[in-house]
Amino acid sequence: MHHILIQKSKANILIIKMIHIILLISLLITTTSNASVQDFCVADIKASDTPAGYPCKAATTVTSDDFAYSGLIEAGNTTNIINAAVTPAFVAQFPALNGLGLSAARLDLGPAGVIPLHTHPGASELLIVKQGHITAGFVSSANTVYIKTLKKGEIMVFPQGLLHFQATAGKRDAVAFAIFSSASPGLQILDFALFASNFSTPLITKTTFLDPVLVKKLKSVLGGSG
Ligand SMILES: *[C@@H]1O[C@H](CO)[C@@H](O)[C@H](O)[C@H]1NC(C)=O
Ligand SMILES: *[C@@H]1O[C@H](CO)[C@@H](O)[C@H](O)[C@H]1NC(C)=O
Repeated sequence: MHHILIQKSKANILIIKMIHIILLISLLITTTSNASVQDFCVADIKASDTPAGYPCKAATTVTSDDFAYSGLIEAGNTTNIINAAVTPAFVAQFPALNGLGLSAARLDLGPAGVIPLHTHPGASELLIVKQGHITAGFVSSANTVYIKTLKKGEIMVFPQGLLHFQATAGKRDAVAFAIFSSASPGLQILDFALFASNFSTPLITKTTFLDPVLVKKLKSVLGGSG
């Protein structure tokens, strides 16, 4: 009899513990679902972008087509000074990315193609090689250089904000896709910032220690002024 009573109270304690756990879980579920009030916020691209993204277009006007993007099917035109093209699928091109913290791009590299040293101030980048061979690298804040030559199927990561590049390795065209950890990664190309802008030659010379003759030559090639 005594033995049975003890067994019974042990069972009661167990049931009370289980009820506590269930209450805790349901509390967690409610809290989480309250934090996320909507599934998506397809950008109203006619409005202007803000640090918090675009405002949403009305959910009643959203269709399946909003969640797919065909702009990366076609190769970009690589007949240009860098023998390369970057085709973005950022929020401005693919509005469904708004608020989701990711985006993509297609890289086409002709023979001798290069995406010159550049940074994405707002995102880390994951590069996925689809065709050919690509030599890619970045420079860390400690000024250490990390370089790899990648083949089809290989991937490489470029941490947020660091200067990096991609270049064709070998003589064949290369194609890669990039995934970014922001819907608006941003893109600043170092050579264009210096030599395709209106940054004055005396100040470029002063702030970079480059030879003014070289600065003027690069400006004439890239279209800079000042
Ligand atoms: C690629 O760009 C070059 C230079 O702007 C242009 O001459 C050429 O017609 C373009 N090719 C295609 C297929 O659009
Ligand atoms: C560069 O051009 C922009 C727009 O044309 C102008 O607002 C800016 O002041 C110029 N900067 C210099 C240093 O001339």
